[in-house]
Amino acid sequence: MREATKILVFHLVWFLCIHVPPMFCANVTYDHRALLIDGKRRVFISGSIHYPRSTPQMWPDLIQKSKDGGLDVIETYVFWNFHEPVRGQYYFEGRGDLVNFVKLVAAAGLYVHLRIGPYACAEWNYGGFPLWLHFIPGIKFRTDNEPFKAEMQRFTAKIVDMMKQENLYASQGGPIILSQIENEYGNIDKPYGAAGKSYIKWAASMATSLNTGVPWVMCQQPDAPDPMINTCNGFYCDQFTPNANAKPKMWTENWSGWFLSFGGAVPYRPVEDIAFAVARFYQRGGTFQNYYMYHGGTNFGRTSGGPFISTSYDYDAPIDEYGIIRQPKWGHLRDLHKAIKLCEEALIATDPTITSLGSNLEAAVYKSGTVCAAFLANIGTSDSTTNFNGNSYQLPAWSVSILPDCKNVVLNTAKINSASTTSSFITQSLKLKEDGGGALEDSSSEWSWISEPIGISKNDSFSKFGLVEQINTTADKSDYLWYSLSIDFEDDVSAQTVLHIESLGHALHAFINGKLAGSGKGNSGNAKVNVDIPITLVAGKNTIDLLSLTVGLQNYGSFFDTWGAGITGPVTLKGLKNGTTIDLSSQQWTYQIGLQGEDLGLSSGSVGQWNSQSNLPKNQPLTWYKTNFVAPSGNDPVAIDFTGMGKGEAWVNGQSIGRFWPTYVSPNSGCATSCNYRGSYSSSKCLKNCGKPSQTLYHVPRSWLQTDSNTLVLFEESGGDPTQISFATKQIGSLCSHVSESHPPPIDMWNSDSESGRRSGPVLSLECPNPKQIISSIKFASFGTPSGSCGSFNHGSCSSNKALSIVKKACIGSSSCKINVSIDTFGDPCRRVTKSLAVEASCT
Ligand code: GAL
Repeated sequence: MREATKILVFHLVWFLCIHVPPMFCANVTYDHRALLIDGKRRVFISGSIHYPRSTPQMWPDLIQKSKDGGLDVIETYVFWNFHEPVRGQYYFEGRGDLVNFVKLVAAAGLYVHLRIGPYACAEWNYGGFPLWLHFIPGIKFRTDNEPFKAEMQRFTAKIVDMMKQENLYASQGGPIILSQIENEYGNIDKPYGAAGKSYIKWAASMATSLNTGVPWVMCQQPDAPDPMINTCNGFYCDQFTPNANAKPKMWTENWSGWFLSFGGAVPYRPVEDIAFAVARFYQRGGTFQNYYMYHGGTNFGRTSGGPFISTSYDYDAPIDEYGIIRQPKWGHLRDLHKAIKLCEEALIATDPTITSLGSNLEAAVYKSGTVCAAFLANIGTSDSTTNFNGNSYQLPAWSVSILPDCKNVVLNTAKINSASTTSSFITQSLKLKEDGGGALEDSSSEWSWISEPIGISKNDSFSKFGLVEQINTTADKSDYLWYSLSIDFEDDVSAQTVLHIESLGHALHAFINGKLAGSGKGNSGNAKVNVDIPITLVAGKNTIDLLSLTVGLQNYGSFFDTWGAGITGPVTLKGLKNGTTIDLSSQQWTYQIGLQGEDLGLSSGSVGQWNSQSNLPKNQPLTWYKTNFVAPSGNDPVAIDFTGMGKGEAWVNGQSIGRFWPTYVSPNSGCATSCNYRGSYSSSKCLKNCGKPSQTLYHVPRSWLQTDSNTLVLFEESGGDPTQISFATKQIGSLCSHVSESHPPPIDMWNSDSESGRRSGPVLSLECPNPKQIISSIKFASFGTPSGSCGSFNHGSCSSNKALSIVKKACIGSSSCKINVSIDTFGDPCRRVTKSLAVEASCT
């Protein structure tokens, strides 16, 4: 740009800046303590929402719930393969409407951290890389390689330009205050050697040259060159320090739970532990923290990575897959955010002074001028009492108390004031509908079907000597690749033959003479498949048709793009006549990419010769099924329960709701009955659902449904009974709270002007999730020593006999109620014991 143009642009931007809402149009910089907006240091709470994992119709509500939960910033990756499925052909519509998403975040008054990558990881297919990238001659991903760097730069610049054109950078009046280049390269860079080092230097200067006007970060990159801020990802980041004193301590991924794999148990992370980790981070000098994920959402279509990442990407996040607030996680973290914000002036004023208060006990004090905030931590696993500034404080194990005035505790991370809720899926039988007619009884005659041919059926098949790698062959156009062979035997074939197959993964089905003879699958830890399938050959011609399939392409690891998939062999027949083995690997195989039904476009439901006679095939592999149904009424989120089906993909009104695989069951062991939040968390520490299918319920966004007639199409690989499929709606059940005499008062009672507000006692508050509802019944109330959790509370040995009537009187008929948790309210059922009040209510 010429100098004169530069000056003009500057003046234009400045003009815009003074004429748009003051929150944006900011100068974003950083220093040792924090990000600075217009020269003022800020404490930020951020959360990840990946826009293609929900629908544009869900975005405003998700963003509002994030704001209500106390977030300042929404963090998202940009998904290259979603936006550029074919080189040079861009898609920014629908779930890919990034500009709209960023604008909606801005409209809610929140900021954006745009992680362009363009490598994402994110349990997303191929880590976000488009498959065509793999076929560029001479390319090597994520290293000092000219073809790769050219493509990475082109896409990164394209996104930056798009944002600039819409004035979305903070420097232009927009919400974007940060951008990320690359992603956790430092975790896997060793094998790339010196080329990796120079790649990172190049990536940093390439990003800087794009002149976004806002800082860039590189996460998990200890050698991130200036001015890139290196940030931390993990379950805990309190011990992290950036690589230069002039950079702030930032945490770009605090994993709020963990992802689910097909074949795995369901991970969850107790909120007491997350709150502890967050408070520890701000205690030890952090000023920016992001929940990965705040809303995880759904891996629709074939977007999930892996391999074996499930369709649900719920992540045990504060907002669940369906967009419902997860309590008490969301509420307790909201309270925590308020507590941290009460300390903001002190946090930005100075570095903390950290002292030990005894074994496993640590105080951090931020004191400057008249402001003072303190964090008291117990990082041990047993409860403790400590002295701080002449006062005594109880510090439960693995908790942090926050004192915004260095004296009164506004919040302890292990003491939850927020209410919890239970939610459940209410099954609704699939109301089927005839094409032109009224609702019909559930019946198999309402399903129609098409059998997918076994083996080669398309005219674009090809033959080749030897076994091929799958991804190089299919370019991921489909999950499926057929490997077919026919082989002649003399009349004396042994009955004891075993077909031995070795595959790089991820799963396969073997058909002998048109019949399914066996299957094999890998798992998220090891995608390879190694199977021995006993088969019966016939004299004369035999066909061997192997259907190999991918279940989401690898998204993480050094050189992950080259790991490959498919039946690369050996493939042998063992135990033939006289015990001989023949190796079929280098025979001439015939290959078919994808299915005939995919080429025909059967998923739309509107083409194809569907059979609708009464003899609906059940438990038949390779079958397409179709039905029409009436959407469940109301606004509750909708799921399809695929229990009864095997494995495949499903489409509602032509939109893919993802892969289903309800027959992949998690191991029997590894789940504890309850998970102790005390002590370090890891992704395998708290698991549920052992011995059960990893995922039976699959989200169907409301906006994809019409009130009346809808089409559901399934492709079933291994065999299932579609008449068992049902719908479910997700509904909130009970509303509960459990508050003890030692809990701090509700955070909203904190009033910086009145000491009494800070000292008032604990209060149990209940509020119906929907403001139009009222509390209609109290299912349980106990003051004393109750135990258990929402939906399964029990009275303890100590319990006041007045509790139920007092709670009923205070709550029934109102949409919310508050009860002081004290012996003044309930009398004292047992002296010298710390008592608590547990309540379970329901709203209608
Ligand atoms: C991180 C990565 C994220 C995501 C996460 C696990 O290593 O940066 O993209 O994959 O792990 O959910």
